[in-house]
Amino acid sequence: MVLIAPSILSADFARLKDEVAMLEKAGADMIHLDVMDGHFVPNLTFGAPIVKSLRGYTKLPFDVHLMVSNPMMLIEDFVSAGANIITIHAESVTHLDGALAQIKSFGVKTGVALNPATDEETIKYVLEKIDLVLVMSVNPGFGGQNFISSTLEKIERVKKMIKGRDIILEVDGGINALTAPQCVAAGADVLVAGTAVFKGGDYQKNIEALR
Ligand code: DX5
Ligand code: ZN
Repeated sequence: MVLIAPSILSADFARLKDEVAMLEKAGADMIHLDVMDGHFVPNLTFGAPIVKSLRGYTKLPFDVHLMVSNPMMLIEDFVSAGANIITIHAESVTHLDGALAQIKSFGVKTGVALNPATDEETIKYVLEKIDLVLVMSVNPGFGGQNFISSTLEKIERVKKMIKGRDIILEVDGGINALTAPQCVAAGADVLVAGTAVFKGGDYQKNIEALR
């Protein structure tokens, strides 16, 4: 069964601790935390202090998605804040292999995100250092965007590339009841969803609709 990772980007930021507790109760498998710096992406969200504050309100794994220009200077802070998976963008670092080795040295899971226009070949030689591949199905920066359909072919290619390895394939952006089954058919293990989980307020029903 596909795992669902709700993104708190679509949550009520004034009630974040209740929101994460409600997501756990609603059957979420992990909490996806979208960190944006207003530089790598044209939007700002939150940093490690917010993640740390939320850590006590759910037992679910924290899946931290760093959409920032210099991710390596933040890794230690997010590890201390309780991150379980830390995903950096392949486009945001010069030395991807070294960056992944550094994240691994903190004892957390490593993820690599690929923007819609980034070739999956970029991770070909670092697969042994990766626990998760995040295929972006929208251009990062905002929730509520439309799914980019060329992503489906990329999911299939990544699935082939990681075959036989213990690597999670996660898809992020524009996931709804229509695009979710397409991503699963292409090989996705985890779906990130913001808008589709929070709309209308019945998180449990919305999560079930995505499975
Ligand atoms: C986009 C973020 C996504 C986003 C998904 O930059 O990485 O996690 O919140 O939101 P929806 O599900 O609304 O596309
Ligand atoms: Zn994300």
